[in-house]
Amino acid sequence: MNIKQIDRDHIWHPYTQYATAPEPLLVESAIDALLNLENGEQVIDAVSSWWVNIHGHSNQRLAAAVHDQFCKLEHVIFAGFTHKAAAKLSAELLPLLPGKAERLFFSDNGSTAVEVGVKMALQYFYNIGEKTRNQVVCFEEGFHGETFGGMSLSGDLDFNKPYSSKLFEVHRVPAPIGGEKAATLDALEALFKTGQIAAFLFEPLVLGTAGMLMYDSEMLSDMIALARKYGVLTIADEVMTGFGRTGSIFACDQSEAKPDIIAMSKGLTGGSMPMGLTSCPAFVFNAFVSEDKAKTFFHGHSYTGNPLACAVACESLAMLKEPERQADIKRIAAKHRTFLKKHQAVKSFRAIRQCGTILAMEYETKEKTGYFNKRRDELYAFFMDKGVLLRPLGNVIYILPPFCMTDAQLDQVYAAIEQSLELDWM
Ligand SMILES: Cc1ncc(COP(=O)(O)O)c(C=O)c1O
Repeated sequence: MNIKQIDRDHIWHPYTQYATAPEPLLVESAIDALLNLENGEQVIDAVSSWWVNIHGHSNQRLAAAVHDQFCKLEHVIFAGFTHKAAAKLSAELLPLLPGKAERLFFSDNGSTAVEVGVKMALQYFYNIGEKTRNQVVCFEEGFHGETFGGMSLSGDLDFNKPYSSKLFEVHRVPAPIGGEKAATLDALEALFKTGQIAAFLFEPLVLGTAGMLMYDSEMLSDMIALARKYGVLTIADEVMTGFGRTGSIFACDQSEAKPDIIAMSKGLTGGSMPMGLTSCPAFVFNAFVSEDKAKTFFHGHSYTGNPLACAVACESLAMLKEPERQADIKRIAAKHRTFLKKHQAVKSFRAIRQCGTILAMEYETKEKTGYFNKRRDELYAFFMDKGVLLRPLGNVIYILPPFCMTDAQLDQVYAAIEQSLELDWM
């Protein structure tokens, strides 16, 4: 079988411009932070394969969890039936969630986990008779996925232009990046005061796709508290930030005020099975409990509550809580901090910032910072040539490593970045 030929002729890869993209690399296997290519080369996966792979690749404990579960029950319809793996995951995850999370709704990806949260919030107000509270506020720079809901709720992104006439309307406020706190809080308050806002949706602490833009936990807390003051439900999109990425298990652990609804995916199963989860407090769930069937939450996907995903999520969570893994998170954050301090004043970087295990650098360039910045393809190729997978967001590169990445591998990634500084990028 000629794999490359079949790929060339029949597979449509995501986020890939076929006119200019190089052929995809064929991965034979992967172990921990390393991808083994078919030509014998190895690549360090410094972005955890689109931010999912928190424990590294081909983890034997996760493999065993899937195998054991498969031998008992691989799947069952989740309406009218339940199973031990879902119950175990709920019992183990709910106490860890920031706030008063009491219920979990299961789905199968991050976009959907967010949409479920927004649907919960909108129907909550509908069910309790506040039908004019039906609008949503998000960040101008936010990203929440690629479904029509995800696109509508994200910022006004260039890649969504072909569909813009089909997206639903949301209110957008500037994210509090670069210390612009007052502008965000004022814009939020003006909207909240109308009494028409059902929900405020945000990426806590780090806006990933926008270029790993960061704001502090005090601001996160202030925004949540402000929403609560006006009776607005808060939805934290922890799809990227959840499961240790920002240094705490959830980004909202660092905030004093806690969100009502939390969307999760990516690191949830340690990068092994597709899964989304949305948590909510009892008062939201209770608004759906009624003799009136119209108050039901009419949502559910074929793979909702998949037992394999639940079982592996339990194992991944157990691993995340272990002292060794927590020490890894601290170790990576400390090494990032050292690198950041060393390069704070480097001319080639317009900015350098860190949150937990995420380290991001904005390269100086003639064009403005952004996803379509021309430097992206050059930077990607430069790092791949050094055996390091870093997927720049325009002129922003970031390290978002699996927590098992060794110091030596991290040093190799830093060294590649340092070498990139010696080139004339302007
Ligand atoms: C914050 C955030 N929300 C939602 C999504 C969408 O997740 P998925 O790609 O699993 O649909 C992403 C994906 O990158 C994300 O970063």
